Amino acid sequence: GETLNIALVGLGTVGAGVIRLVEENAELIARRAGKPIRIAGITARDRAKDRGVDLSPYEWVDDMGEFATREDIDVVVELIGGADGPALTLAKECLSGGKAFVTANKAMVAHHGLDLAQRAEQAGLAFKYEAAVAGGIPVIKGLREGAAANRLSRVYGILNGTCNFILSAMEKTGQDFAEVLAEAQARGFAEADPSFDIDGVDAAHKLSILAALAFGTELDFDGIERSGIRKILSADIAQAAALGYRIRLIGMAELDGSNGDARLFQRVHPYLVPMHHPLAHVEGSTNAVVAEGNFSGRLLFQGAGAGDGPTASAVVADLIDIARGEIGPAFSMPVRELDKVARAETGHR
Ligand code: HSE
Repeated sequence: GETLNIALVGLGTVGAGVIRLVEENAELIARRAGKPIRIAGITARDRAKDRGVDLSPYEWVDDMGEFATREDIDVVVELIGGADGPALTLAKECLSGGKAFVTANKAMVAHHGLDLAQRAEQAGLAFKYEAAVAGGIPVIKGLREGAAANRLSRVYGILNGTCNFILSAMEKTGQDFAEVLAEAQARGFAEADPSFDIDGVDAAHKLSILAALAFGTELDFDGIERSGIRKILSADIAQAAALGYRIRLIGMAELDGSNGDARLFQRVHPYLVPMHHPLAHVEGSTNAVVAEGNFSGRLLFQGAGAGDGPTASAVVADLIDIARGEIGPAFSMPVRELDKVARAETGHR
């Protein structure tokens, strides 16, 4: 069509950010996308809530399932979250109803990304999730397209802004974990279930996605060995500093060996990061991802991993791709081509 018609499901921080961005940058988005992006329908749990944006120009529906079959919708944007439940039902309905699907839902992609990508491939539809990992940082595109010619051996980084905020604050103030947790939560980028942040689940969701993309392997969320930052004391941080290190919660994936004998190593743990490494200097809620390619060398992607503006920026980038007609595989290859790789023995699982 002449316009890309989208439906927005979920109007929290990110949904409101998408509305603001589509409005404020409408002209440049239309020029770059080759057509205007129009918000043809919206829905969320609570209609009355004040979101700081005027919803009156947009058509509200009560049943999100309606968008899966409506003739006047091209793309459904899911911003409600949750691995299963309504988000997953909606994704399946949309892909079987002929709608492209854009999501910021890392839990759903980590658990069901292959199934959804396969449904999208079979239907010839786009399934995109740039906003699911590291907010505004274009790391999905960066790995899938920018580094596509490389054999990547490692991908790792700071994937949870809440934990990085807590660790940075503990280091600066000498306060303990419990004291800075509440402040991190007040910043508005903590997960609905805060244990997802501090126990490393959120970082593991993102790591499983990055590993699959980087190595051309199937997603293996359950294969991630994981611990979080609950038990870290400000004394640990001070001691690390005395030895020349900073403590960061790092998600790390490596593909050991090659061809028939490759093994996938995936872990999320607090690591001691030497001061000379760029990840030691990633402060506050910032995210950073490092990937090592055999021709590109070491790549560093850094920026805001959460928040309305950065996450909306990633969502709308996906919409612009779709407006341009870019369908492409959701992972680095069609799902049936991805390698199924054994887990590396790490001895701690
Ligand atoms: N809770 C996440 C974080 C939000 O703190 O990084 C972005 O996924």
